[in-house]
Amino acid sequence: MPRRMMIAGNWKMHGQRSDLVFFEQLAPHAATAVAAGVDVLICPPATLLAPVAERCANAAIFVGAQDCHAHSSGAHTGDVSAAMVRDAGAEYVILGHSERRADHGETSTLVRSKAQSALAAGLIPIICVGETREQREAGEAFDIVGAQLSASLPADAAVLVIAYEPVWAIGTGLTASPSDVAQMHAHIRTQLPDPAGTRVIYGGSVKPGNAGELMALDDVDGALVGGASLDVDPFAAIITAAIHGCAVR
Ligand code: PGA
Repeated sequence: MPRRMMIAGNWKMHGQRSDLVFFEQLAPHAATAVAAGVDVLICPPATLLAPVAERCANAAIFVGAQDCHAHSSGAHTGDVSAAMVRDAGAEYVILGHSERRADHGETSTLVRSKAQSALAAGLIPIICVGETREQREAGEAFDIVGAQLSASLPADAAVLVIAYEPVWAIGTGLTASPSDVAQMHAHIRTQLPDPAGTRVIYGGSVKPGNAGELMALDDVDGALVGGASLDVDPFAAIITAAIHGCAVR
């Protein structure tokens, strides 16, 4: 069976209750997508998880968090556990995003603990990996991503999603070339316990203008979209690109 594709929106630190009308506008696009083999996911900030999950209960839109703590509960001021995220209605959680690796010093070892905790709580982890510009220029991209993967992946994850996000492409307007993306996704797949069944999605300045060629690549199972997920029109255009990509696989 071909893998379903996934277009995931990462809202980062954007969004308030006044923005929830977005979901009514997105719902028809998501319904078309799900019927065509493309899952649509939005990862709002933690404060919006519960209201977004309520709005999406009858829509074909999955909800995810942007992080969770590695422990199930305890004295961790300001943190949110995987079980809390699940309780708020989320089904996915982004882990090891490069902004968290940079801003909060998250290591791959910590990402693995968080992934284990997420799986135990019934969440599907979306584990992010990606090299910096310096690492790519030094010819180290494959080694760096390989090392991140081997240290971040939990031992016996039945289901997870990998997001390849070259750090230099995030929020910069620069995207990796389709051939660089194809090569890296193929490389990632060789390291996965279930290469044929695991979705490997691409992130880093995905926009309507470049989504068509990226979503048509065999090994690219969708996109993790930051800036272009904040408005319905560009996000819907990326979903449409994935529907076309899905049809030609
Ligand atoms: P961007 O962000 O699409 O704004 O580059 C992608 C991401 O960080 O997930």
